[in-house]
Amino acid sequence: MRLSGKVAIITGAGSGQGKASARAFAEQGAAVVIAEWNTEAGKQVEEELKSAGHDALFIQTDISSEENVQSMVEEVKNHYGKIDILFNNAGIGFSSRSRFAMASVLETPLQDWNSILGINLNGVFLMSKYVIPIMIEQGRGSIINNSSLNGIIGVTGADAYTASKGGVVALTRVMAADYGKHNIRVNCICPGAINTPMIGEVLDIPEIAKNYETGPLGRVGEPEEIAQAALFLASDEASYITGVILPVDGGWSAV
Ligand SMILES: NC(=O)c1ccc[n+]([C@@H]2O[C@H](COP(=O)([O-])OP(=O)(O)OC[C@H]3O[C@@H](n4cnc5c(N)ncnc54)[C@H](O)[C@@H]3O)[C@@H](O)[C@H]2O)c1
Repeated sequence: MRLSGKVAIITGAGSGQGKASARAFAEQGAAVVIAEWNTEAGKQVEEELKSAGHDALFIQTDISSEENVQSMVEEVKNHYGKIDILFNNAGIGFSSRSRFAMASVLETPLQDWNSILGINLNGVFLMSKYVIPIMIEQGRGSIINNSSLNGIIGVTGADAYTASKGGVVALTRVMAADYGKHNIRVNCICPGAINTPMIGEVLDIPEIAKNYETGPLGRVGEPEEIAQAALFLASDEASYITGVILPVDGGWSAV
């Protein structure tokens, strides 16, 4: 039980990597708060975890809304009395199924730019802004941010998404520097191509899917493989690790 007695908030835990992390964290003894804007998906994960005997709480949340974030964090504090782990996982934008353009700077409407940064970057900022004071009071905490390979190398064709993920990398480092003195660790995962609904439509097209199978490990990753990295960074096993930008990408960023 690597997270025994811990309380963890996972944003975007209704799908993909967030859902896999909710399962992994709960199996290791954490009470898991599913902070998700999709009610149906969030409730489903809550029910699944509860029926497996775990402690889970779904709170409908849009992480780009300060009001939503503030009231969700208050509710968690009232319910559990503490917050040990924050996994800033929710994100949007790298998907042609999404309502946003997968485009370069010249083709990106300002409205799409603002919406993507409003979730992917402002969401991390807002969640951290309201959770960190509680962690300071406790004298401990672990924050994990979910960036992307796009945050560390130039992947063309989704420039707003890429900029937002680069911001998450920079924010990780500065938050680690600012709050280390309060025993708050802040780390970041940079997933490569992961088999989730976000890139599902791309993986469904064999000619395109094969482009994602060219890294050293020669395959796309599974959400459970991100969950294991998040679990390690969340746990006390990573007690001397902060400010780390960790690619979990089958070696893509190494070549
Ligand atoms: N799948 C990939 O290949 C890949 C690669 C690198 C990074 N990522 C990042 O990993 C994270 C998880 O993505 P995923 O692959 O699991 O995708 P996903 O689409 O399966 O899951 C994302 C979840 O976030 C939720 N969400 C989105 N906006 C939200 C908001 N404003 N408030 C609350 N919840 C919101 C969605 O409803 C969904 O449940 C994202 O930050 C994504 O950018 C994904």
